[in-house]
Amino acid sequence: MKTRITEILGILYPIVLAPMAWITDAELAAAVSEAGGLGTIGPNAGFKTVTTDVQETGERLREQIRKCRELTGRPFAVNFVVGVTGWDRDFSDKCLEVGLEERIPVAIVSQGSPAVYTPLLKKAGIKVIHVCSTVRHALKAEEAGVDAVVVSGTEGGGHSGFDQITTFCLVPQVADAVDIPIIAGGGVTDARGFMGALSLGAEGVYLGTRFIATQECPAHPKVKQAILAAADTSTIAVKHGNPAQTREAARGNRGFVEERRGSVRILLTDYVRQILVERGGSFSYEALRSPGNSDRNVQSNRTVDAFIHGNLESNSITAGQGAGLIKDLPTCRELIERIVGETDRLLKRLNSIFRP
Ligand SMILES: Cc1cc2nc3c(=O)[nH]c(=O)nc-3n(C[C@H](O)[C@H](O)[C@H](O)COP(=O)(O)O)c2cc1C
Repeated sequence: MKTRITEILGILYPIVLAPMAWITDAELAAAVSEAGGLGTIGPNAGFKTVTTDVQETGERLREQIRKCRELTGRPFAVNFVVGVTGWDRDFSDKCLEVGLEERIPVAIVSQGSPAVYTPLLKKAGIKVIHVCSTVRHALKAEEAGVDAVVVSGTEGGGHSGFDQITTFCLVPQVADAVDIPIIAGGGVTDARGFMGALSLGAEGVYLGTRFIATQECPAHPKVKQAILAAADTSTIAVKHGNPAQTREAARGNRGFVEERRGSVRILLTDYVRQILVERGGSFSYEALRSPGNSDRNVQSNRTVDAFIHGNLESNSITAGQGAGLIKDLPTCRELIERIVGETDRLLKRLNSIFRP
C-alpha cells in the first residue's frame, strides 16, 4: 500500500496507533509497528503509578522509547501533549527534551500550538505530525512546517475538539484547505472506516478506541469488556475546561468560548449515569472525574485506577463512538491484516456499484 503517509513515515500500511495516555506503551506501540503500521508511545506510558516529578516523567519516557527500540526496528512515534499551563508545560518540555536526545523517528504533537515544538523537532530530523480538529488549526500546522496533520472528528475518544465537527465533514474540508497529507481519526475501527477516510481525502488513519480492545493493550480486562459491550449510544461528550482555558474564555478567545461544548468523549457507564442523575443531567468532565477535588494528581490517579486497575465503579473512562463497532479482542497484527485484507472485498463491492 502506498500513500504519502507510508512514504514519509517509512511504514507498510497507513494505519497509526493514536496515543492514549497510560495505555499506549512500548509493547503496544512495537506490536503495531511490527505489523506494518505506526505505533505511538503515549504520555505516562508503561507505568502503573502517578509521579509528580518532572525528571522522573522524562526518564520513564526514555525507558519506554528504549524498550520500543528493542522490540522493533521499524519506525514508531512518541506523543507530546503541549502543556497549556506552566505546570503542564514543564512536563511536556521535559518529554520533548528526552525525545530529541533519543532521536525518535516520529513525533505526534497534540493540544498546543504547532509553532511551539515543530522547529526543534524538524531541526533534529524528526518527522512531525500535528493533531488538529478544525480547518484553521490544520492551516496553522501546515504553516508551522509539519509533515502531516491528524484530523480527528468528534466521534473520537478522549479530547475530540471543542467544535464537535464530525470526521465525515471535517476531513474533506481540511483536504480542500491544505497540501500536506492527512491522517483521519475519530470513529475509524475497521476496513469500512479506513476506506471511507481515504475516500474523504485522507492518506492514512488514526485509531485509538479500536486498539484498546487488542491482546497487547495493557488496559484492564474490565475496560476492554466495557468497550466490547458498547452499543451505538454508549458514549457521551462532556464539557472540559482548565484554568488557562477559562482565562482565554475571559479574554474572548473564540476557541475557548461558546459555552464549552462537549469536548471529551467518555463511555456511558453505570458510574457516569449515576453522576448524571445526581447532577440533573449536566456536569463538566472535571466534576465527573473527581467530584469536589480539582487536584491534578488526584485526577491522574483516578485515570490509572480506571484504565490500569479496572476500577470502573467510581471512575469514568474515555472512548469513542466507534466502540459500538468493536466486537472482539484480536492481536494488533490480526487487526491490521484484517483491515488491509478487507479493503479488497470493499473495492469489489464499490466496483460492482459503479460498473455493474
Ligand atoms: C483512552 C484514551 C486516551 C487518550 N489519550 C490521549 C493522549 O494522551 N494524547 C492525545 O493526543 N490523544 C489522546 N486520546 C485521543 C486519541 O489519540 C485519538 O484522537 C482518538 O482516540 C481517535 O478516535 P477513536 O478513539 O475513535 O479512534 C485518547 C483517547 C482515548 C480513547
